[in-house]
Amino acid sequence: MGRAAVSEAIMAQALAQSLTAFLITDAREADFPIVYANDAFLDLTGYNRKEIYGRNCRFLQGDDRDQPGRETVQRALSRHEPYRVIFRNYRKDGTLFLNELAIAPLRDEKGIVTHFVGSQNKVPYENLALLRDEALALLEQLTAREREVLAMMVDGQGNKSVARSLHISPRTAEKHRQRVLRKMGVGSVATLTQYAIAAEHGAMLSAA
Ligand SMILES: Cc1cc2nc3c(=O)[nH]c(=O)nc-3n(C[C@H](O)[C@H](O)[C@H](O)COP(=O)(O)O)c2cc1C
Repeated sequence: MGRAAVSEAIMAQALAQSLTAFLITDAREADFPIVYANDAFLDLTGYNRKEIYGRNCRFLQGDDRDQPGRETVQRALSRHEPYRVIFRNYRKDGTLFLNELAIAPLRDEKGIVTHFVGSQNKVPYENLALLRDEALALLEQLTAREREVLAMMVDGQGNKSVARSLHISPRTAEKHRQRVLRKMGVGSVATLTQYAIAAEHGAMLSAA
């Protein structure tokens, strides 16, 4: 069977009509302004295009800027890595929603990153609570040393940096890292980060 051809026009329509919110920011301009948002994004946030084009997406955080994912997003953007994170965001009418954001770099034909795509998914509060409970149950299986390693991993530190802080060899750090991932039942540090962020948001939301 041959591959069915999909024209670029159909691709563009698919994205525009998708019920998943998404937008594109310009990576060549300072501070990555929004240059496109689909209707689903407008429906999710309550803004119209005029109000958001040209702005950085952080306006969705309002004054609630003390958020766990900010630094790691900045790092992923500067390294041109895809990334997933949950933010507390606010609609135009001021109501709060949990936004699971996924970002990825887009490259031109020369391989240069010219844009980023971001898609936004509203996370139900119950899911966050589940994720948090799951994370806490798994954390209990870790030794004190493994928890220290976990905290550093979530913070984006590599084996060398972990080894230096804990005065152990990079090989031992790698062993700890493997054991933490195995005990937490996850394949990657990205999923661990999701757990940690869920726990942190959960704590903030239940304190509110
Ligand atoms: C493509 C793209 C989409 C983004 N979407 C959102 C979003 O929906 N909500 C949000 O709070 N931040 C979003 N951000 C992240 C912010 O723009 C910003 O990078 C983040 O707040 C960290 O930087 P800051 O500490 O300078 O604000 C997005 C970033 C990019 C590149």
